[in-house]
Amino acid sequence: MVKKLISVLNGEPASVPPIWLMRQAGRYLPEYRALRAKAPDFVQFCLNPELAAEVTLQPVRRFQLDAAILFADILLIPHALGQKLWFAEGEGPRLEPLRDGHDIAALQYDGEKLAPVMQTIRGVRSALGNDTALIGFAGAPWTVATYMLEGRGGTDHETIRRWAWAEPESFARLMDVLVEATSAYLIAQADAGAEALQLFESWAGTVPAGLFERAVLAPTARIVAAVKATHPAVPIIGFPRGAGSWLSRYARATKVRGVGVDQMTDLATLALPPQVARQGNLDPVLLLQGGEAMRAEGKRLVAAMRGKPFIFNLGHGVMQPTPPEHVADLVTAVRGL
Ligand code: CP3
Repeated sequence: MVKKLISVLNGEPASVPPIWLMRQAGRYLPEYRALRAKAPDFVQFCLNPELAAEVTLQPVRRFQLDAAILFADILLIPHALGQKLWFAEGEGPRLEPLRDGHDIAALQYDGEKLAPVMQTIRGVRSALGNDTALIGFAGAPWTVATYMLEGRGGTDHETIRRWAWAEPESFARLMDVLVEATSAYLIAQADAGAEALQLFESWAGTVPAGLFERAVLAPTARIVAAVKATHPAVPIIGFPRGAGSWLSRYARATKVRGVGVDQMTDLATLALPPQVARQGNLDPVLLLQGGEAMRAEGKRLVAAMRGKPFIFNLGHGVMQPTPPEHVADLVTAVRGL
């Protein structure tokens, strides 16, 4: 039997939508914090197949979600390209920023560094039941490049925007490097047993319109085509957060089978090709808050998307202080139990 998440990504509406949540594994779960305490270095934690598989399975066991998402991080690609990556406690990720075309030329993808991720995937697949799909993922090139050039999150991406405008050729080379590495990484994930793949374009919202084709549409389309050539049955979900008016062009230009939608966009009136699955878009703050307002909004979304291929999710990741009981309550409300 085809798993519910996959049949929706094949364009078939479900009477009760499949549900999973971005960042469903993480610090809001006490069982995550307990394991994380054993591996203080976050990169080594992601590259430990036993711990990473266990952390992937934690939210699925607790909430009976329709999908597990591989526990890893989008910044493992720069790590595998040879860029220095570390996580400053309480500050988030840091990278030694690329300074010029020489730094780009020095990048070399070493897939062996990410072999433990494939072992995690095999471990999770063997532990998952027959109705739960395993989603692999990577960051999309622009989003990963923002960290590679800025060296950290939390900026307005002035450095990368200047670079993309002033040095279109070296920017294109960086996109090429990321397209190739990301395609190889996602193909390896599908080889290892990932049943669907999500591309996180978390910073689509900072791309100027004049760069959108070169920074988002073309690189994403190339990755989708490369994965499709070797794994035609493994659907890709694209999540261009903040892309707003670009969403329908994004779906058509990239040929993703599902589009992740943030909470600023109205799912009900979003014009996408009919067979493309919509995924989203409860406000993560509403999950943090919980209660009747959350349940009512969850049910409203399900009702608005009836008859369309729809995957219930948040508009962005679970926030750290979210009480786990709110997730259980949301899953029950969405399933109409
Ligand atoms: O449960 C899941 O969704 C799977 C695991 C996952 C993580 N990161 C684990 C993680 C996924 C899919 C990601 C993707 C990711 N990583 C994105 C795209 C999604 C998004 O949120 O927009 C981005 C931008 C990153 C980069 C990153 N990693 C940042 C900015 C941070 C620090 C912020 C934070 O939440 O701490 C991380 C660290 C990180 N990645 C944690 C987790 C569980 C927290 C690390 C810890 O345990 O201290």
